[in-house]
Amino acid sequence: MKSGLLAAIESKTANVIVLGLGYVGLPVACLFAEIGFPVVGIDRMQDKIDTINRGQIPTAGKEPGLAELLSRVVAQEKFRATTDYELCRDAQIVLIAVETPVDSVTKKPGYEALRGALTDLGRNLSPGTLVIVESTIAPGTMEQVVKPILEETSGLRTSEDFYLVNCPERVMPGKLLANIQACHRVVGGMSPDATELAVKLYRHVVQADLDPADCLTAELVKTMENAYRDVQIAFANEMAFLCEDVGADVWQVRALVNKSPYRSMHLPGAGVGGHCIPKDPWLLIANAGDGFEPRLIPTARAVNDGMPLHVADLTVEALREAGVDVADAKVAVLGYTYLENSDDPRNSPSKVLVARLRELGADVIVHDPYVPECQGDPMEMVADCDALVLMVAHDNYRALDLDELRTQVAQPILIDGRHVFSAERARAAGWNYRSVGVGWK
Ligand SMILES: NC(=O)c1ccc[n+]([C@@H]2O[C@H](COP(=O)([O-])OP(=O)(O)OC[C@H]3O[C@@H](n4cnc5c(N)ncnc54)[C@H](O)[C@@H]3O)[C@@H](O)[C@H]2O)c1
Repeated sequence: MKSGLLAAIESKTANVIVLGLGYVGLPVACLFAEIGFPVVGIDRMQDKIDTINRGQIPTAGKEPGLAELLSRVVAQEKFRATTDYELCRDAQIVLIAVETPVDSVTKKPGYEALRGALTDLGRNLSPGTLVIVESTIAPGTMEQVVKPILEETSGLRTSEDFYLVNCPERVMPGKLLANIQACHRVVGGMSPDATELAVKLYRHVVQADLDPADCLTAELVKTMENAYRDVQIAFANEMAFLCEDVGADVWQVRALVNKSPYRSMHLPGAGVGGHCIPKDPWLLIANAGDGFEPRLIPTARAVNDGMPLHVADLTVEALREAGVDVADAKVAVLGYTYLENSDDPRNSPSKVLVARLRELGADVIVHDPYVPECQGDPMEMVADCDALVLMVAHDNYRALDLDELRTQVAQPILIDGRHVFSAERARAAGWNYRSVGVGWK
C-alpha cells in the first residue's frame, strides 16, 4: 500500500483533492497543480466554484502571484473546482483546509465545517488514501474528532487502511504563496508511515524544514504559536494604555525597548482580528483537563478584544473636547478588514468599533477599498464628518493627503488606531491627532 502511494507522490501522478478553497486551500491546490499533480478542489459554495473555474480568484486583497497562478492552472486543465465529494473515491491524497472557528460566546471549537467535510470524505474514502488536515484544530482533535468520524463513515481503520496526518498551515494573507513555500512545517502523522508520506508530498512545494512529529505535538505547536503572538500583542497593548496614562509615546518607548538584547516587543494597535489569532488561543486550551487553569491566555484575549472599545473611547473623548456629543456626531471609520491590503473582514476590530459608536448614537460611515459594500472615494465619504478613525493600515490610507482631507471634514479629529500617520505631520495639517498608545493630556 505504502510503496504504491510513495511512487505516485514521487512521480507527481497521485490524484490530489483539496477540501475547502479559502485563503489556505486555494493557494495550496494551485501550487500542487502547478508542479504537475492532477488536483481537484471541493468547496460547498457554488459561486466560489464558478469563479475559480473561470480562472479568477474569489478574493480581492493583494495576493502576489495567486491570480496568475490560478488562471494558468485552470487554463491548462491541471486544476478544477467542484462541489462533488464522489470525486474523493479516486483520490490518493486529500488535504482538508476548511474553517475552524470558535463559538462567539462559549469560545469552544465550532467544527461544523470540519465534521461536514470529514463525513462527506469518509463516505467516499478509498483504501490507501493519505488524508492531511491543514486546518488549525484544538490539541486532541485528530484523535477525538477526525479519526473517529473518518473511521465510522468509511468503515476503514486509521494507519491500517488509510494514512492520517495533521500538517497545519502557517500562512498570512498577502503572502500566501510565499509563506507556503518558505515556512517550516510540522508534519504530525498518526503513524511513522503517514508522516513519511506527507513529508515526501510537501517536499515538492516547501523549501523549508518539514519537522516530523506526532499529531498532538503538531496541534499544540500551531495553536501555541498563535497564542504566543496574541499574548505578545496584549503586552504591547497594555503598555500602550500605560503610556497614554502617563503621557508618553509607546511607539518611541517600544523602539528603544527593542534595542535591549533579546527583546522583541510587538506592535500595539486598535485590535486583533482574522481567522487565526483571535480564536487559536481558545483552541489551544479547549481540551485542557481539570489539572490546568488557563490564566494568561483569557487575559490576553480580553486585553486585545478591548482595543476597539478603547478606540471608541478615544473618539468619544476627542469629540467631547471639541464640544460635540457622540450622539450628534458623524464618524468615518477607515478600514473594515482585519488586515492591511486584505479583503478578509473575519473578526475585524472595526466591526466592534462601529457597533459601539452606533450604540452610542453616532452616525457611522465605513470605508474600505477591499470590501465591496464600503467602497468609494474616501475624500467624498468623509465630507462633513466630525471624526475620522483609522483602523486598518491599507496602502491607500497611507497615501491619503492629510491637507486635502482636512478641508473635507467638519471637525479635524483624527484617531489613528494603527500609527499610520506621524503626529507632527497630522498636527501640522491642522488635525487634532490621537493615536493608540500616545498620551495627549
Ligand atoms: N486564513 C489564514 O491566514 C490561515 C492561516 C493559517 C491557518 N489557517 C487555518 O486554515 C483553515 C482554513 O482557513 P481559511 O482562512 O482558508 O478559511 P476560509 O473560510 O477562507 O476557507 C474555508 C473554505 O472551506 C469551505 N468549506 C466549509 N465547509 C466545507 C465542507 N464541508 N466541504 C468543502 N468545503 C467547505 C468554505 O466554503 C470556505 O471556502 C482554518 O482552520 C484556519 O484556522 C488560516
